[in-house]
Amino acid sequence: TVAEPERSFEAAIAADQRIEPRDWMPDGYRRTLIRQIAQHAHSEIIGMQPEGNWLTRSPSLRRKAILMAKVQDEAGHGLYLYSATETLGADRAELTGMLIEGRQKYSSIFNYPTLTYADVGVIGWLVDGAAICNQVPLCRSSYGPYARAMIRVCKEESFHQRQGFELLATMMRGTAEQRKMVQEAVNRWWWPALMMFGPPDDRSPNSAQSMAWRIKRHTNDELRQRFVDMSVPQAEALGVTFPDPDLTWNAERGSYDFGDPDWSEFMQVIGGNGACNVERIANRRAAHENGAWVREAATAFARRESTKENA
Ligand code: ACO
Repeated sequence: TVAEPERSFEAAIAADQRIEPRDWMPDGYRRTLIRQIAQHAHSEIIGMQPEGNWLTRSPSLRRKAILMAKVQDEAGHGLYLYSATETLGADRAELTGMLIEGRQKYSSIFNYPTLTYADVGVIGWLVDGAAICNQVPLCRSSYGPYARAMIRVCKEESFHQRQGFELLATMMRGTAEQRKMVQEAVNRWWWPALMMFGPPDDRSPNSAQSMAWRIKRHTNDELRQRFVDMSVPQAEALGVTFPDPDLTWNAERGSYDFGDPDWSEFMQVIGGNGACNVERIANRRAAHENGAWVREAATAFARRESTKENA
């Protein structure tokens, strides 16, 4: 017989209700959420680096202000998501430790270099576009704190996506050289953006269980298809092409057919061997170590304040 708490958990999932921090939940559900939300938080924090790289070299004050706001948003998303993991009993310091020791993953996409300012635009348009595609359904994820966090995160992501598209549209109205710069950036980021959705469904070990628990609402391949369908008309509006000879409209399916990303490259990147993995983690580790005095001071201050209150 199934124990009562387990029955009410199953019933809540079946009725599409939210699971909250104090509710009973299976260990596997808790572990899966901590894994996914921590990976998501790490991605937001590591994701500050590729674009942060251009903050000091923005082409105008306006672009700099936009980029700075965006990079700060990513920091906020990371902190918000670490807080969501804490509602599950995880410890933020431990999660950070696992990230900088390479024991927990972050999104593959942030291991590619940003070579020109067009990359800033393409990251906004395609990378944040893919993030929105993946994260809008997570607003209906079964775990309450994660789903609620996603609502705010998605609103900010849509600003990120629009600033990217607007930046690229501006460059496309510029010189031939600027248009070339945009197309080259699109060529470099298209396949890695498709990889953000994770491995194909038949090679995605976590999908079936995460779908059953309604943590994930769609499979990796479903979301990848949705992203392709959404992006093609936007590319046409911009006047760029995607580097995929197999990309064609399939009238029968009402969707675009497209080629297969290089999954061996994906495995290399998530295995720590992408172009920028070592640099990204080294920077994160240095920031963590250089920030130790701030954490110590804040902890000492909090301790002193609480003694005052108790006195
Ligand atoms: N980059 C790095 N690792 C990945 C990626 C990726 N693009 N895609 C899948 N993986 C990892 C998974 O974490 C899993 O590893 P693990 O079991 O060691 O943790 C493994 O590859 C197998 O993948 P799946 O079984 O498909 O894993 P999962 O069900 O967790 O699906 C997905 C992966 C779609 C990324 C899911 O975790 C998710 O939706 N996460 C929330 C969104 C997110 O993290 N976004 C971050 C980038 S967006 C941004 O920050 C702008």
